[in-house]
Amino acid sequence: MTILSSHSQPADPQPSKRSPRSSVSSVEGETLLRPQATPDEGNNRNEESIRPQHLEDYIGQTDLKEVLHIAIQAAKSRQESLDHLLLYGPPGLGKTTISLILASEMGVNCKVTSAPALERPRDIVGLLVSLQPGDILFIDEIHRLSRMTEELLYPAMEDFRLDITIGKGQSAKIRSLSLPPFTLVGATTKAGALTSPLRDRFGLVQRLRFYEPPELSQIIVRTAAILKTSLTPEAALEIARRARGTPRIANRLLKRVRDFAQVKHSGIVTEAIAKAALELFNVDPCGLDWTDRRLLTVMIEHYNGGPVGLETIAAATGEDAETIEEVYEPYLLQIGYLSRTPRGRVATASAWKHLGYQPPENQLSWLS
Ligand code: ADE
Repeated sequence: MTILSSHSQPADPQPSKRSPRSSVSSVEGETLLRPQATPDEGNNRNEESIRPQHLEDYIGQTDLKEVLHIAIQAAKSRQESLDHLLLYGPPGLGKTTISLILASEMGVNCKVTSAPALERPRDIVGLLVSLQPGDILFIDEIHRLSRMTEELLYPAMEDFRLDITIGKGQSAKIRSLSLPPFTLVGATTKAGALTSPLRDRFGLVQRLRFYEPPELSQIIVRTAAILKTSLTPEAALEIARRARGTPRIANRLLKRVRDFAQVKHSGIVTEAIAKAALELFNVDPCGLDWTDRRLLTVMIEHYNGGPVGLETIAAATGEDAETIEEVYEPYLLQIGYLSRTPRGRVATASAWKHLGYQPPENQLSWLS
């Protein structure tokens, strides 16, 4: 890993001709702050040990927890499977974890898959016929299901029935197989991209929200205890503030800070050590990385802060428009550094100030 720069270099006080491309980048900062799971985080045993197993150990998402608690108690008392559940919200907020918790609370198995792995109809058929009564089937990125797979799911969700077409053309016949009652938990970052017949078959539709720093701080303290890492409450909060509202990022930052403390210091993570480590990894005090700063800088320097269209920002920065929209923007919107207007994206006065620029007078009045 090569660390080329630290975020702490002050930005130019005024918009200048300097190209943001001339800033140096850190690959580490990019990876550390992406909300998607790395292949290692997806399936290693260490990761499993830090996931909460029960609803009462799950921190944050209070309203969602309450809804799920009621659904679990009601299903248990009726000795039924849980209603199908659609979870939506940005990546890294705990959709898989919730699904695994539901399974352990209900005392059933959870099969985890994702829509891109269910390309052929036989993939979903194989999974459905392997379910035991009450089991949970978790499908990530459910908005990406193929049409045939989705159509197989309709009777499966509604009547626990699998309709299989045998043969082709005029001689084709439909055979129905009954399935045990099961619960489909669908997860998506794009609820609006689901077809309405699929969305309507979920009895519960719940949104996951970004976490507040005090909640992330509690998660960090909990994970540190599991990893047998000593850290001060101030250090936990410092990491939490830079974790973009996302537990997956908070736990990832904690591990990197722990390594830094172990190699460079006595091993105890203090606030000063956390700050030094995160600065080295190019994670700024608000959790912005090089690309976030570059997007905002281009908007400020080249378009006077906007409004500017997404495609224009993409062309000017060389980033993919969809990646900007799905990966970078949600957090910038959440912390109020970006706003979406009918005429395009606007870098808010807070973003100008954070990057060391003086916001134009007229912006101060309507965007803080
Ligand atoms: N680890 C990751 N997310 C968590 C959460 N919401 N509560 C407790 N531990 C977690």
